[in-house]
Amino acid sequence: MSDVKPSVVILISGRGSNMKSIVEARNNGELDIEIAAVISNRPDAAGLDYADEQGITTCVIDHKTFDSRESFDEALAEQIDSYTPNLVVLAGFMRILTTEFVEHFSQRLINIHPSLLPKFKGLHTHQRAIEAGETEHGASVHLVTPELDDGPVILQARVPVLSDDTEASLAARVLVQEHQLYPAAIKKLIDNQLI
Ligand code: GRF
Repeated sequence: MSDVKPSVVILISGRGSNMKSIVEARNNGELDIEIAAVISNRPDAAGLDYADEQGITTCVIDHKTFDSRESFDEALAEQIDSYTPNLVVLAGFMRILTTEFVEHFSQRLINIHPSLLPKFKGLHTHQRAIEAGETEHGASVHLVTPELDDGPVILQARVPVLSDDTEASLAARVLVQEHQLYPAAIKKLIDNQLI
């Protein structure tokens, strides 16, 4: 194992609870990584305060100040590149990314999606799982490819869907698993020397 820790940049848009789970895994020694920066596309993302408190470099690139998706993604890629990360982690980052951006970070860009991919790509996954009568649901960490929620799965976590579940109760059950899953998936990449 090399002495240099893999460097990670985490992208968020809001609450940042998955980002927090990765920071906690670093803090407790489960993940031997350096967190180079947490970047948000929204100035009001709650997760930024937590990252600041943890002494992590934070940065806002507000997508509303750009006139096109391409120009935002270019600025975002440039900012990420300035940290020279081994891995870019999308943690509740609510932006569709251009093919150019995804290809620029090919093989080192990962996302967490709240469904058992390839089921329920896109939004409202929990409600759709309930409506489809699924008995099992969960979350997936996957490599990002240009097609939305489509890249190879690295690791999944499964939960039961209960007969009295609401969207909120199912989301909460999945989220508990997400917080174990994301650090475990990053560890898997490191252990397999993929980053
Ligand atoms: C999570 O459910 C994640 O799977 C999805 O967006 C949500 C982000 O939550 N992509 P948080 O900001 O990490 O708390």
